[in-house]
Amino acid sequence: MKVIGINGSPRPAGNTSIMLKTVFEALEEEGIETELIQVGGTDIKGCRSCYACVKSKNRQCSTKDGFNEIFGKMAEADGMILGSPVYFADITPELKALIDRSGFVSRTNDQLFRHKVGAAVVSLRRGGGVHAYDSINHLFQICQMFMVGSTYWNLGFGGRDGGEVVNDTEGMENMRDLGQSMAFLLKKLNAG
Ligand SMILES: Cc1cc2nc3c(=O)[nH]c(=O)nc-3n(C[C@H](O)[C@H](O)[C@H](O)COP(=O)(O)O)c2cc1C
Repeated sequence: MKVIGINGSPRPAGNTSIMLKTVFEALEEEGIETELIQVGGTDIKGCRSCYACVKSKNRQCSTKDGFNEIFGKMAEADGMILGSPVYFADITPELKALIDRSGFVSRTNDQLFRHKVGAAVVSLRRGGGVHAYDSINHLFQICQMFMVGSTYWNLGFGGRDGGEVVNDTEGMENMRDLGQSMAFLLKKLNAG
């Protein structure tokens, strides 16, 4: 089984990345393969509303900017964790672009994400975390996916210095809980 994590932060080694890697540790302890994919800070574009994916139904987006490689990994994975820092009480534009395009291509190809497991992970300094968390969960909810939470919202607090989230003891514990719950659900779904 495999779970991919997508980092929507432009900082490859920032708070969001630390949170995703902490979830990965718990998944790997349960024998689940993981892969981290960087989306924040890339040139991923928004949906052009060309509807080519609706017509072609070839599991591809017509915009060739690296999206199709990432989408292929999303379609193959058993689970996905989408992570973002809060930017003005929402997710980053790069992650939003990925959500719009991957949701569309999944839905126009017989719901490729159907019955996969999804989790949202959000880092923030002070406010807007639950709104960003909801923005990510919308993808899972429209694609017939199963969402995983933890003992509190999947949020971690950290400022701009990078890596401060490690001091958010409860947030980090939530990430470990999230990994364990995700592994539990994946094993149930894939049993016999
Ligand atoms: C453009 C921008 C907007 C931000 N807006 C918010 C915000 O609305 N609320 C908040 O709590 N933090 C906000 N932050 C802080 C980041 O969300 C926070 O430091 C986060 O942990 C950074 O994660 P990263 O290290 O993975 O990039 C903002 C940061 C930037 C650069």
